[in-house]
Amino acid sequence: MADNIRILLSEEEVDAKVREIGEKISRDYEGKEVHLICILKGGVFFMCELAKRITVPVSMDFMSVSSYGDGTESSGIVKIIKDLDDSIEGKDVIIVEDIIDSGRTLNYLVEILKKRNPNSIKLCTLLDKPERRVKKEVTVDYYGFEIPDAFVVGYGLDYAQKYRNLPYIGIVEQ
Ligand code: IMP
Ligand code: MG
Repeated sequence: MADNIRILLSEEEVDAKVREIGEKISRDYEGKEVHLICILKGGVFFMCELAKRITVPVSMDFMSVSSYGDGTESSGIVKIIKDLDDSIEGKDVIIVEDIIDSGRTLNYLVEILKKRNPNSIKLCTLLDKPERRVKKEVTVDYYGFEIPDAFVVGYGLDYAQKYRNLPYIGIVEQ
């Protein structure tokens, strides 16, 4: 049977927020270039839309890590599935994520990327579930929405690899 999806954030709300974050990044990085690192696969939709709203020069790279199986709970083990293509040395990096939940994924990523000597490294996430944070040291520089502790899909986020293509953010009701 098909799952029922209840809309939490509409397409219009998400689009407006992405535009706002893009404008903020453009102001903050005035006179610089920004290197966006997308965390696959969930971050793809957000990064593409965000990049279109940034007015300073942008370069992009992709990385894939796994911290979840096909379920809804973090395993606590983070593994690099696909590393970056390019060096980040001396670059002003922004990591672009779909959602921060326990914070384990980003905590791990920031630690390994810092060792590669970027000029700066910031975190940008579309969604944040602060109630669920285990790694309190993870600080988010740019975020779209704080959401309650519910499992959400759409705009890149999946449930067992489905629903990434929804243009809005929804909650799966079985
Ligand atoms: P963390 O390591 O617990 O912060 O988990 C981050 C990753 O878990 C995200 O990049 C997502 O891929 C996945 N995730 C966490 N919460 C959700 C959710 O509500 N829906 C879909 N994926 C989620
Ligand atoms: Mg993800």
